[in-house]
Amino acid sequence: MSTRPRKPGPATPAPGKLALPELLQMKARGEKIVMVTAYDAPGARLADAAGIDLILVGDTAAMVVLGHDSTLPVTLEEMLFLTRSVARAAKRPLIIGDMPFGTYEASDGDAVHNAVRFVKEGGADVVKLEGAGPSLSRVRAITGAGIGVMGHVGLTPQSATVLGGFKAQGRTAEQARQVYEDALALERAGCFAVVLEAVPAAVAERITEALTVPTIGIGAGPECDGQVLVYHDLLGLTEGRAPRFVKRYANLAEEIRGALTSYAAEVRSGAYPAPEHTYAMPEDELELFSEAYSSKSQRLDRSFPTDTRAEPAPPEGGTASGASAKRVQETHTDG
Ligand code: KIV
Repeated sequence: MSTRPRKPGPATPAPGKLALPELLQMKARGEKIVMVTAYDAPGARLADAAGIDLILVGDTAAMVVLGHDSTLPVTLEEMLFLTRSVARAAKRPLIIGDMPFGTYEASDGDAVHNAVRFVKEGGADVVKLEGAGPSLSRVRAITGAGIGVMGHVGLTPQSATVLGGFKAQGRTAEQARQVYEDALALERAGCFAVVLEAVPAAVAERITEALTVPTIGIGAGPECDGQVLVYHDLLGLTEGRAPRFVKRYANLAEEIRGALTSYAAEVRSGAYPAPEHTYAMPEDELELFSEAYSSKSQRLDRSFPTDTRAEPAPPEGGTASGASAKRVQETHTDG
């Protein structure tokens, strides 16, 4: 057997996984590509069930999951942690690991090393990085290592400070020309698709016509080959002012707040838990138990466990309080 180091080959798609070349065919057929971000297993499972094609484990996790003010602070380790949970749950969608700020800027070597980590440790199928210019060389290096790269131009949040904030890009002829040239350069460098963020629809349309690979728009109008939105934005989990391009398809923040408020009220009033949420025990066992504790002094009887830190052993035919799927199955059928 050869001991020569091997280049990571293109990830072999798992059965049922959308094949990367299929995206080109979708563009050719004029079939829209649907992409959404996800950051955990439940979100990824729901996105898969909804027929989403591409899941981006976006560095927006920094803001919508981790509570930062920008995408810059999220670390590679945090992104790998989130990517793993998405990869465990989503079967058909291609999973795109978003390379966070600081993991690809310094050198092609860093970029390849960290992209390989996304695939090997995070379970991502491909990666995404922002910008053109120096990023073009990173794209060539990563694709040369056998990993697909999605590009991202227009508003690139990792460079928001340099761009003067979270503002639409390409609104002057000169800026539009730059976004157009950057997108074409990313395709030439080997990107399999390019995200166009917050650029005028007319500019995105021209870019979409000029590129062979698909464009995925976010605030870039309807002519892009596909669309992406941030999970928390489209579900109404983020509150307050949203960017112009966000459409809220649900108001989950409201739903969740309502549910939590009802729960708190019912715990306080004693309405929860009701008898149907409560376990019974055989009368004779209850009697034995009550006898043992019939007087205050007997509460110290050492024949009953007194160490409240220890998890009690599951009763015969019942379960302990550990959170496991087995517990859920058993307790659901328990009278
Ligand atoms: O990180 C992210 O969520 C993104 C999308 C906005 C495209 O890059």
